Amino acid sequence: MNTNNINTNNINTRCENYRNFFTKEYLMGPNSLRLLDEMLAKYPLKEGSRVMDLGCGMGITSLFLAKEAKVNVFATDLWISATQNAQNFKKWGVEDRIIPIHADANDLPYAHEYFDAIVSIDAFHYFAAKKGVFEQKILPFLKKDGVLVVAMPGLKKELTEEQADMMLEWFEGNRDDLDTFHSGKWWMDLFGDSDDYEVVMDFDLDCFDEAWNDWFKSGHEYGIKDKSYFNKGLGKYLSFVGIVIRRKH
Ligand SMILES: C[S@@+](CC[C@H](N)C(=O)[O-])C[C@H]1O[C@@H](n2cnc3c(N)ncnc32)[C@H](O)[C@@H]1O
Repeated sequence: MNTNNINTNNINTRCENYRNFFTKEYLMGPNSLRLLDEMLAKYPLKEGSRVMDLGCGMGITSLFLAKEAKVNVFATDLWISATQNAQNFKKWGVEDRIIPIHADANDLPYAHEYFDAIVSIDAFHYFAAKKGVFEQKILPFLKKDGVLVVAMPGLKKELTEEQADMMLEWFEGNRDDLDTFHSGKWWMDLFGDSDDYEVVMDFDLDCFDEAWNDWFKSGHEYGIKDKSYFNKGLGKYLSFVGIVIRRKH
């Protein structure tokens, strides 16, 4: 684990003010606000910077970025429409600071070298767990010295066959979905050494229990199902992988 310059102040405190969003209406998995809060505590973004929230879902991470990090956000998602998110941003009084965009991470509609940061919370593994995706599809949109800030569910370490079989049941037999879950070391190997970017931080997040418990308590049907698998021991294999990568030039 590379923990250079980690700031351990204020971890998991700001998101307590967002408890109204810890509900099945807004959560799409383990509490993304806890993950983002911890990432921003460890790697603060510069106020006023231009940020893509990649895989923003219902937009609550974009709201947190706009209000707490005070950045300008392009809230980008595939499954949730721009119209739905625009309605949320208006309702929350942040429509002047967050632009909703419907787009696929594999074909982003932005100018190259446009963003100071790309933040992706509980989403990156869906589209980037393959060699070359980050370099070809995402990195070009960062400015020089721009950063990718990722927090996603993953594994403490890669699974044995037996463990994979148990995990496959959780994924309802879908091997492609299972193959998106990996350890921090696996992700580091995927990124490898590059002349174009450097890994600034990689670590397992501290908010594991809180983020999952919020999801279980949300009453979401998938949260209830996930809890039943945790009760069978699933949690001991899982982790949240945190990564910060800086574009060099
Ligand atoms: C589990 S949800 C998390 C959403 C949000 N970040 C949060 O934590 O509340 C994963 C999100 O990733 C988005 N996603 C998956 N594949 C994507 C792709 N190829 N391009 C853009 N977004 C994608 C989905 O649309 C979905 O909203």
